[in-house]
Parts: sequence; C-alpha cells; structure tokens
Amino acid sequence: MKRELTRRDFIALSAATATSAMLPKFAMAETETVKYDYESLPPLRETAAKKGILYGSSVEPARLEITKAFSPYYEQDFNDAIARECNLLVAESIMKWDALHPTPEKWDFWLADQLLEYAKKYDMKMRGHTLIWHAAFPAWAEQALKEGRGEALMEEYIAKVAGHYKGKLVSWDVVNEALKGRGEGNEEGLRDTPWLKALGPSYIEKAFRLAAQADPDVQLVYNDYDIEQRPAKSASAIKLLRGLKDKNVPIHALGLQAHIDLETNFAPLKALCEEAKKLGLDIIITELDVFDPSFNTDSKKTDELVAAKLREFLDIVFTVAVPKQILAWGLTDRHSWLSSAQWNVWRNPKGHHIRGLPLDDDLKRKPMWHVLHEFLEKA
Ligand code: XIL
Repeated sequence: MKRELTRRDFIALSAATATSAMLPKFAMAETETVKYDYESLPPLRETAAKKGILYGSSVEPARLEITKAFSPYYEQDFNDAIARECNLLVAESIMKWDALHPTPEKWDFWLADQLLEYAKKYDMKMRGHTLIWHAAFPAWAEQALKEGRGEALMEEYIAKVAGHYKGKLVSWDVVNEALKGRGEGNEEGLRDTPWLKALGPSYIEKAFRLAAQADPDVQLVYNDYDIEQRPAKSASAIKLLRGLKDKNVPIHALGLQAHIDLETNFAPLKALCEEAKKLGLDIIITELDVFDPSFNTDSKKTDELVAAKLREFLDIVFTVAVPKQILAWGLTDRHSWLSSAQWNVWRNPKGHHIRGLPLDDDLKRKPMWHVLHEFLEKA
C-alpha cells in the first residue's frame, strides 16, 4: 500500500538532503586532470562481487527513483550511479528510531520497505542502521527510559523492527556509538547515554540478545567512530568486545565507521583489528569518508591526499582481514554530510564543500574511487 509522504516526512527528508545542496560550493581549481583511465574500469560492485565483498553507500530515498513521483530531491543521475556502483545499501536516516517509531502509537516502515524493494530491483543487499543509539531518539522514548520503562521499550522496539526485517538484511548495527566521544572526560568507557542511565552497562548485551532472538540469521554489529584513531576509545572498544564475547553475547562483527581525515593517526587500528579477529569477529567498514581539515581549494591536491589517506587506512585493515561489507557514507561529494550544517558545527564552520567521497559532484570517479577499486581487485 503506497503511503503519501507526510509533511513530516518531507521535513525529515529535506533536513537530511537539502543542507549540503544549500551550502556555498567553493569554486574548485580547474587544474583537475584525470590521472587514471577510470571510465574503462568496472563498477566497484562488480569488482567487489568477484571477491565475495559487498560495496555500497548510505542513501536518502528522497534522491532515488522510489520517491520520484513526489520528491523534489529526486536525482536521476544519482539514482543511476548508485545502481551502477553499489551492491549494498544502508539508510542514512530512515531506519533510525525517530523515523520508524516517531510516536508511541506510530510505526512507519513504509519508506524503508520501499528502499528494500529498490535494493532487490537492482540486486543489492541492504544493512540496517541502527537499532539502539542515543541520537535520532525521540523525546517520548527518552522520557520512557527516565520513567523506568527502558527494558520494555527496548524489548518491544527490537522485536518489532528486527522482526519486521527478519531474513531481509545482511547485518544490523545493533548498538551504535556506545563509547565516550571526543572531549568526554578521558574518552574512556561507555558514553553516558539515556540507555546507560536507564539500564546500566548491560543494555548493550541486552540489545544484542534481543536482536538475535528477533532475527537469528542476521550479522549483529557493534558500530562506532574514532576507534581506528583515538587510543583511549580504541582500548575501550577492545574492552567492550572482550566483555561481550566473555558473556557469549551474540555479536558477529565490529563496524568501523571510518569517518577519517587527512590528519588521522591510525596507531590503534592494527591492534583493534587483530583483537576483533582474535575474538572471532568480522570487521566491516560502515560509514567511510575522508575529511580535509585544511579546507584547501585545490581539488586535485585534496583528491590525491584523500586517496593516499584512504590507502593508508585500507592497508592496515586489509593486512588483518578483508572486510566483506564496505560502505562509504555517501557516493558523491554532492550529498556528503561532511558539507552539511551539522558537520559544520563540529569541524567545518565555514561550510566548505568537502571532497571526501568516491565520486565528485558530477558523479565522476576520483582517486579515492580508484583506491577502492585497487583494494577490491587485490582482496
Ligand atoms: C548522520 C546523517 O548523515 C545525517 O544526515 C543525520 O542528520 C545525522 O546522522 N554516525 C552515524 C550516522 O552512525 O547515523 C550519522 O549519520 C553520522 C555519524
């Protein structure tokens, strides 16, 4: 049953999709020349598939053909580029709590179900993002936690959502970003989220056990950022994973979000990957992008620096284990959240147009795309 998008849907979709389009696009130096014969190379999805790897991107349905009848954000060229390059999708926003369960009475799977149909049409897999997180979490749900109804709320939500997608997803980010972030105390240990406050540290294992009950065959992932680079957070990730495995918690993979930048020091990464492997966990790359904090406007130089940083990252990960799911947090610079108003609050106050994704604004393959091709080809 097709459901008209409500005004709220458009607000959510436009909030997620318009910001990067509205930001000033700094004129890029015209010195850009193509170094490789990109166009003669097969799409990333084809190279990946030959190695049993799924390559993909986060997407907003507002830009895809599934919403073209009513979305002002539909982009035919983008839709086609996603179908060409990707065999794995993840919803950037619409499978989070505030989209699927916006009020106590309302469950809304329509748009995510459309995205699943789109994936099927183009022979793609889909992964779920994310069941338990402190963000995209409605105020009514946070209030329920404060009132002591957290366990029942988690049980209902995971049973309903992971149950709804049972057998249809390759993996779920069961818990997202449970560790302290930058500047939070000594950056060690669990983030003080509404879930931790309400249920204590065991909320994490509870979530994994509930997800395994709801969908016994899906890969269950712990997903976080900075664990590839911040020593204290990386050590906390290892401690968390060891603790879960010691309790025989059904966790199958570590998700490296991999929001990296040109200054990232990957000192902790090898040990983290080795520990995950030792614990029997797969390693997947879930939200890759590469930020340039120097904001230099020479696009050719930025693209080469971004490609070199990605190579450094993938070299370390692939030396330990080949990730069977690799997603960037977007396919094209045109839509990157690194150029969104939200990211600007953190690290891009002037709203520079960031070139941190595999394709440029015109959907042309960049050196970063070529690095991905190289690693997939030699996997
Ligand atoms: C971000 C989306 O890209 C934004 O459009 C949205 O407004 C906020 O969330 N880590 C995550 C993702 O796990 O869910 C976040 O995605 C980026 C950081």
